[in-house]
Amino acid sequence: MDIIFESTTRTFYLNTKNSTYAFFINELGVSEHLYYGKRIPQQDLRGICFRQTYSFAPYDSVVGDRVSPDTFLQEAPSGNAGDSRICALSFVDSQGKYGSRLFYAEHSIREGREPIVGLPYSSAEGAQSLELVLRNKRGDLEVRVFYVVWKEEDVVAKHTQVRNLADGDIRVLKASACVDLWGSEYDLVELYGSYHHEREFVQRTPLKRGVQGNFSERGASGHESNPFFAVCAHDATEDRGDVYAFNFVYSGNFKNEIQVDKLGNTRVVSGISDYAFEHVLPSGGNFCSPELLMTYTDGGLGQMSRNFHTFIRRKIVPPRFAFSHRPIVLNTWEAFGFEIDEQKILDLADSAKEIGAELLVVDDGWFRNDDAKGLGDFAVCKEKFPSGLARLSEKVHEKGLMFGLWFEPEMANGQSELYAARPDWVICSADAQYFSRGQAVLDLGNPEVVEYLFAKMSEILDGVGAEYIKWDMNRYISEVGSSRAARQGEVFHRYILGVYELLRRITERYPYTLIETCAGGGGRFDLGMLYYSPQIWTSDNTDPFSRVNIQLGTSYAYPPSSMGSHFTEAKVSGLDAGKELRYATAAFGAYGYEFDPRKLSKGARARLREYSQQYKREENVVLRGDLYRICSCDDVAAYIQVSEDKTQAVFTLVQFFFSTAQQSRLVRMKGLNADAVYRCSLDNKNYSGSILMNAGIRIGGLEHRGGKAVRITFVEQR
Ligand code: GLA
Repeated sequence: MDIIFESTTRTFYLNTKNSTYAFFINELGVSEHLYYGKRIPQQDLRGICFRQTYSFAPYDSVVGDRVSPDTFLQEAPSGNAGDSRICALSFVDSQGKYGSRLFYAEHSIREGREPIVGLPYSSAEGAQSLELVLRNKRGDLEVRVFYVVWKEEDVVAKHTQVRNLADGDIRVLKASACVDLWGSEYDLVELYGSYHHEREFVQRTPLKRGVQGNFSERGASGHESNPFFAVCAHDATEDRGDVYAFNFVYSGNFKNEIQVDKLGNTRVVSGISDYAFEHVLPSGGNFCSPELLMTYTDGGLGQMSRNFHTFIRRKIVPPRFAFSHRPIVLNTWEAFGFEIDEQKILDLADSAKEIGAELLVVDDGWFRNDDAKGLGDFAVCKEKFPSGLARLSEKVHEKGLMFGLWFEPEMANGQSELYAARPDWVICSADAQYFSRGQAVLDLGNPEVVEYLFAKMSEILDGVGAEYIKWDMNRYISEVGSSRAARQGEVFHRYILGVYELLRRITERYPYTLIETCAGGGGRFDLGMLYYSPQIWTSDNTDPFSRVNIQLGTSYAYPPSSMGSHFTEAKVSGLDAGKELRYATAAFGAYGYEFDPRKLSKGARARLREYSQQYKREENVVLRGDLYRICSCDDVAAYIQVSEDKTQAVFTLVQFFFSTAQQSRLVRMKGLNADAVYRCSLDNKNYSGSILMNAGIRIGGLEHRGGKAVRITFVEQR
């Protein structure tokens, strides 16, 4: 068993290959955290606990012996119940009162895990779980804390279920997960960004007393913030040091709070944002929170990322797609915008084949000419596509390509028949309806809306037979309100539950159709989405000079195979990146093209075909390999992607600007097998892994104006 309960000390030990998480039921009947860190033998750990009496926090003088509940580490702290630190749980009880203390009632340990109904969650395969039941004194409010352990992947998940055992309603104000850590000698690592720069800025700041953190109140995880964060030792590097990393399996509003308390310990609370959130639980009802994933490693930020990458590919992404070849797409958006039509698509199909693309994606523009109308109706433009989409798809298939279609299901344009007929179906405040990009967000918390969208999408998809859907979302939620819900505090959460329900039904009906989600580029890049779509469009910024850092930032939390990554002609930086550089950065993730190949010379198309073939030869390192970030600084980014068995590796270096000082660089590789001998494509010579990782190799020819990429492959020689 990876989860052990030791009854004399009432201690729970949750073991993974390299970590131990331990807590016990203390003398007050409260679940008290003991330890999270490197795997340790099973022993009585209670000696490391600290008791401060009379810290001035309210305590129970009958049983409490003056023990202040804000001085010990807790597993499930509830608000206004003596522990004045950030709470994980908060309720208004059936009598309309605040503050419920929660005490241990019972527990069970089992193989596998319980599903979380209505929400995405990690696979039961290889899991063991613990269900810890806590109740208030009156016994009419129950909180079940679920711990799930995946030993092989070094990941532990935590989520809660709140049950109303009272006669009247309970209001859930917060149902987050808490992880308390000893000490505060840590840095906080977060991913920040903006539209065109999603997760590009990896911010690392030392913890200070008080509260730090990040959040989203936009209805989606967002361009600016991401649910992932890590707490690491001050001296942790890419390759060594203690790291605790967290990610939340959810796509809506979230809040990560990291608090250093008065005694210098660190509390991590992560969950659905409490902004505009209030969930009413009728008698007998229950509320399930999404799950928080965590991993501990002493192998630095690099190993942290690899732990999450492996876990996401094995336990989150739809298994059918997780490790299988992703078709090389040619997407119409960047080259044509709305100006697409049947003839253009068919012409494109011919040149798409020539460059080695395997799937043609008809992006936005098939039901409208600009962004002002059509969303919600999805009625194909007859002038542009006279034979209809089903026939177009057939013709594309006849040319030997697969077919993909863009949708933005969660929206209605102001100019649409849907909005004219059902203005009550969009999310809006009582004050006014604002159209942004001409559109409003549909109230997917309303099952009728989900039903309508499912029927609409199925009608189109049944005819089209698409192998791929690009599922977009181009407006955040503002002025939140539903014409339907008496309970306005549930609109944000019910919206995202509706999105999941629609995704569930579509993926169930079209199990072989690969969905790539998107939100104005990478505005909803999270584990909730990855549960349904194996890849997400990383950013609308495809200029290699930005993309390389967007991708490396994203890689802190998410594997390269989850990042839609296209070879384009974008020049957001104003610099003209060469083909090598464009290929090198696009080949990092799920590869494709986004430009008009018809205007290229035959020779240039043949060169792209070689890139497509090269990508297919190297895709193994993207789908199944391990990523090692080597350096990321102002003028250079370098990383190596190594196959699982370490027989194949692809190293990439991007030099951003002209430098006379750095005409060459000595680079030490990582992640190779020290004892193996590799053929290095740079000079076609053999080197041992040990030489490559310790002495390194010198890369010359970097005195190049305006940026350059160097790609080196290593293949083991036997
Ligand atoms: C968003 C996406 C783009 C494209 C457009 C279409 O911005 O990120 O890739 O699909 O919408 O309107």
